[in-house]
Amino acid sequence: MTKRALIIGITGQDGSYLAELLAGKLYDVHGVIRRSSLFNTDRIDHMYCDPHSQNPGVRLHYGDLTDASTVRRVLEDVKPDEVYNLAAQSHVRVSFDMPEYTADVVAMGTLRIIEALRDHVIHSSRAVRYYQAGSSEMFGSAPPPQNEKTPFYPRSPYGVSKLAAHWFSINYREAYNLFICNGILFNHESPRRGETFVTRKVTRAVGRISQGLQDKLYLGNLSARRDWGYAADYVEAMWLMLQQDEPDDFVIATGETHSVGELVELAFAEAGLDWRRHVVIDQRYLRPTEVDNLCGDAAKATDQLGWRPRVTFPELITMMVAHDCKLAQSEQALSQAGFITPARGAAMAGGN
Ligand code: NAP
Ligand code: GDD
Repeated sequence: MTKRALIIGITGQDGSYLAELLAGKLYDVHGVIRRSSLFNTDRIDHMYCDPHSQNPGVRLHYGDLTDASTVRRVLEDVKPDEVYNLAAQSHVRVSFDMPEYTADVVAMGTLRIIEALRDHVIHSSRAVRYYQAGSSEMFGSAPPPQNEKTPFYPRSPYGVSKLAAHWFSINYREAYNLFICNGILFNHESPRRGETFVTRKVTRAVGRISQGLQDKLYLGNLSARRDWGYAADYVEAMWLMLQQDEPDDFVIATGETHSVGELVELAFAEAGLDWRRHVVIDQRYLRPTEVDNLCGDAAKATDQLGWRPRVTFPELITMMVAHDCKLAQSEQALSQAGFITPARGAAMAGGN
């Protein structure tokens, strides 16, 4: 029997890798996308086919987590076996600028889905499994190593909202006997990472500096430490959680921590550049409250799911720098041929 999955947030970094993973396992993959004035499907275009063709590939439905009625309708139309909620205003710094919107999408959005799920399960008598994308930001200032038993102490509107979503999910699991799993994922990156998260901001800058498209890279706190893994490894853990006999919550992490400064040094060295000549500290990228040190202990996931990360931190940075050097070469060629103006330079150097 073909399983059907609904990925909410399919256009994001994780959504795109998860869609590939599930399609490879012969799932019928559906995704929710937001209406936007420009196409926002770059990360999944390679999986999308004309709906008129024999094999429609990934199927997309318009929806938004701020709109409960569409969430409900999509669920009823798709009738999924598994639902993955990866949708979020996922930028921590931006959550300080847009706290109410962040809470609406991340906390209330989750509640809207699981409320709809609760009714759908009753009315259809179908068993549906649900994955909730939790975050190591929920640990905030709790000292490392952090695992499933570590008390939460979030430090941003994003972290607080993810924690509300986490507890809503646990409450719905216990109150209504729903199959709901919370993944508590530590930072995971890839060449598809959004360009304003620090790893990608750095690797994009390395590529552009090496092509002479940009000279400076403006950053905030270089002392913060993160446990960085590879996104494609992490989506596998999401799927594994939903294949277990009982729903549960799992920390997913590498168990290794590095500072932003170490990341910068490694990425610039990868392209033969001296970071000291290019990196400028700009106060605007500091956060009102920072999460200083994240380092996860994923022993439970290793024991119960058989999950472990494959790609190491240096391999991840090498992969991202190589990708972004190629991207910058194309940008340079297109700009020299007069097809584009590299006006995004300023934004690339400074964005968030
Ligand atoms: P991402 O690249 O920012 O993707 C977020 C996705 O959510 C995008 O598809 C986005 O659509 C969608 N979205 C945003 N607001 C929405 C709304 N109001 N309604 C419906 N969809 C909406 O994030 P990611 O890195 O893939 O992360 C996936 C999930 O895991 C997120 O919930 C994130 O908070 C969480 N998480 C991420 C990490 C990490 O290190 N990557 C770690 C822990 C937890 P558009 O493309 O239209 O913007
Ligand atoms: N974005 C960004 N931009 N971060 C910077 C910069 C900068 O210019 N300079 C220093 N940093 C520091 C931040 O202060 C933070 O300590 C660290 O780099 C990582 O920042 P991000 O890459 O933005 O990620 P994050 O850790 O805040 O949040 C990501 O990971 C969470 C899991 O821990 C996001 O993906 C969240 O959605 C996710 O939940």
